[in-house]
Amino acid sequence: MTRDVLRLSDLDAFEVTAVLDLAEADGLDPVLAGRGVSLLFEHPSARTRNATELAVVQLGGHPVTIRGEEVGLDRRETVEDVARTLGCFHRAICARVARHTTLERMATALDRAGMDVPVINLLSDLEHPTQALADLLTIRQCFGGLAGRRLAYIGDGNNVARSLLDACALAGVQVSVASPPGYRLSEEDVVRARELGGTVELVDSPEEAAEGADVLYTDVWTSMGEEGEAAQRRLDFAGYTIDDALLERAGPDAILLHCLPAHRGEEVSESAFEGVRSRVWQQAENRMHAMRGLLALVLGDGSREQG
Ligand code: CP
Ligand code: NVA
Repeated sequence: MTRDVLRLSDLDAFEVTAVLDLAEADGLDPVLAGRGVSLLFEHPSARTRNATELAVVQLGGHPVTIRGEEVGLDRRETVEDVARTLGCFHRAICARVARHTTLERMATALDRAGMDVPVINLLSDLEHPTQALADLLTIRQCFGGLAGRRLAYIGDGNNVARSLLDACALAGVQVSVASPPGYRLSEEDVVRARELGGTVELVDSPEEAAEGADVLYTDVWTSMGEEGEAAQRRLDFAGYTIDDALLERAGPDAILLHCLPAHRGEEVSESAFEGVRSRVWQQAENRMHAMRGLLALVLGDGSREQG
């Protein structure tokens, strides 16, 4: 069966651990030898594009990156026809899309065409699963393990938060999420994470979430596609900045993570971002290692023979 990874919860706890182990393993099989991987971007990217292109090369493959406007999803051609066209050439399709349903349509079209070509989500409005895998890898490296650690997510209950919630649930990391009214993760998100085994709480106060935490995590207040709301969001998120005072409330060995890009003075202060607790560059590099681990899992043993 084709292993699409559209949501973090498309992986189980065993597979998440396997991805992290593969990310740190030497001498992986070149599962992409002689094969292409399509990278399709409807939104800008610095980390994800570089991480994914290099991960593909490290597994012996050839990445072909295209921008959404080049193919004109649902304008020049339907999403389904683009997906099946890419499926003619590539072993996998990795895509960053404005609407999560685009990924679902791609996966369905490939499946109906009998094309065993996995679709991997490189960020949608719903989730950012490959980011969450790199986040877990970073926490594991910093603390020597995951189970029992406590993470406080301060900010928008967005795509990054949603995937992180599920990743932490599967890894045994407890999560407190502090978001202003109107920007919280949903009850459905909490129920799903708890069903995955997670210990999750949504709170109002950043201070309450941060108290004694091992990891303070934040993301931009305005995600790609929401730029028209930026001014209002700056008002609504006032008080939800991770700064040195908030870091002081966290545990003595607490680290700061941020998926990046960072907006200093908004979700994170300059001092906290550049400070000794920040592990954001280790986290950024881990995007590549986690991506290599994920591709090795999805395309490795147990997946189809190359056709
Ligand atoms: N964190 C992340 O996904 O960065 P890019 O948007 O630069 O890929
Ligand atoms: N939530 C952000 C993440 C960027 C990597 C966005 O969707 O723009």
